[in-house]
Amino acid sequence: MTSTRPYGEHVPAPGCPTQYTRLYEPIPESGRDALWARLREEHGSVAPVEIEPGVRVWLLLGYQENLAVLQQPHVFSRDTRRWREAVEGRVDLSRPSFSWRPNALYADGAEHTRLRTPIVDALGRVDMATTERTVRRIADELVDSFIADGRADLVSSYAAHLPVLVVNSLYGLPDSYGHMLGDITSIVFDQDAKRGEEGVARMHQYFAGLVARKRNRPGQDLVSWMLQHPIGLSDNEVAHQAALINNSSHMASTHLIGNTMWTLLTDSRIRTAHTEALVPVQALLDHVMWSNTPFQTLLGRIALQDTRLGNAQIRAGDALLLGFAPAHLDPSVQRDDHGSDTGIAGGSRAHLMFGAGPHACPGRELARMIASTALSVLHERLSGLRLEVAPEQLRWTQSPFLRGLNELPVTFVPAAPKGPQEPDPAPRPRRTATTGPEEPEDLLDRLLNWWRGLRG
Ligand code: HEM
Repeated sequence: MTSTRPYGEHVPAPGCPTQYTRLYEPIPESGRDALWARLREEHGSVAPVEIEPGVRVWLLLGYQENLAVLQQPHVFSRDTRRWREAVEGRVDLSRPSFSWRPNALYADGAEHTRLRTPIVDALGRVDMATTERTVRRIADELVDSFIADGRADLVSSYAAHLPVLVVNSLYGLPDSYGHMLGDITSIVFDQDAKRGEEGVARMHQYFAGLVARKRNRPGQDLVSWMLQHPIGLSDNEVAHQAALINNSSHMASTHLIGNTMWTLLTDSRIRTAHTEALVPVQALLDHVMWSNTPFQTLLGRIALQDTRLGNAQIRAGDALLLGFAPAHLDPSVQRDDHGSDTGIAGGSRAHLMFGAGPHACPGRELARMIASTALSVLHERLSGLRLEVAPEQLRWTQSPFLRGLNELPVTFVPAAPKGPQEPDPAPRPRRTATTGPEEPEDLLDRLLNWWRGLRG
């Protein structure tokens, strides 16, 4: 319950147990969209919520409020160390869900520019045509691993692997390292805290080892380009920016592919329109990013001064939870498909899925290409694609931050695998009679050996 001051400011009644909506509780039967609508009705464009017991933040429900916060870095900082809860020791910023890391995402002003510029310049050097061929090769190999079975889980066998393998290839490493990185990432998010800690340590080794290898043997890849950048980041800084690239792309790309496949499999109007080429794949992706957004909410921004947002009186040190999904349902920007034969409202890229302002996603074109290639390969290779279970039986992640499927079981007509496409990028040279001494084992080799042992 909240009391309302004369001018509409929401002030939670002291001690009232229901004043903060608990986003960490199971999603209500009526669904998330109904929850966002209820919060908007009760609070207007900004609502007080809890993201963990006792951890309170302001959820931005309005499109304009989200945009205003993203575009005013001098008022709303990205540096989570400024959050009152962190300053006063009530939240631990080393945890994956409330993190601070020494990378561009958590930096403001000149420091942000210093860390972001090498990332943007390195991504700018990526040859999109070559990378598209790499994405296709990786996608084909993943499809090969299940196409003869006539059934597969498109999340665990496809969408969860593709983005990390692509980023790994942009680091200039063979695919085996990408499979290892994917496994390490899932250990980081393991429910068992001890295993989670081991995952974080192994992740650190992966990126430290990657940078050390590229320092010794530079190539045409993202990490070598960041190391060579005139801004002169240290090796440790490059390791953190390389990790940021993987972390930023992994889950979002996985769920973008999964949610788009779900849309095609469950909405016959959209499926037909897409098959008949009435809806280009990019418009389909925009539709999903509006209506079935992988990043539902994102923590966030920290207010640097007392300020008013919607009906809420924000205090310096308060945290704001960006509400992409609620913003996309804001009546002021609601798109509808009235008059459309395709089930898709007129194409618009004004959704907030890639952010806005100084931190706007520098990988958005790459993300779109990865997702569209992933969908094209499935479309070309799996005929007679159907959901294996009723749509209501599918399980969605319960996280208040993400919307994605735990699994997407499908059936299709079994077919023969294509077989290996091209050789994997060159492995490190080993000793032969003619090449001389073996290169000494480096940190990445040791990590790969550990991982192979783990897989048995
Ligand atoms: C569907 C896929 C993706 C989505 C939805 C997405 C979304 C976002 C969003 C919303 C932000 C801004 C966060 C904020 O303002 O707090 C962001 C930042 C970032 N993204 Fe992406 N991203 C995706 C894929 C990628 C890919 C493929 C890359 C690179 C290969 C990438 C690299 C980054 C980096 C480095 C940042 C930090 C930029 C900064 O803080 O200045 N992202 N992304």
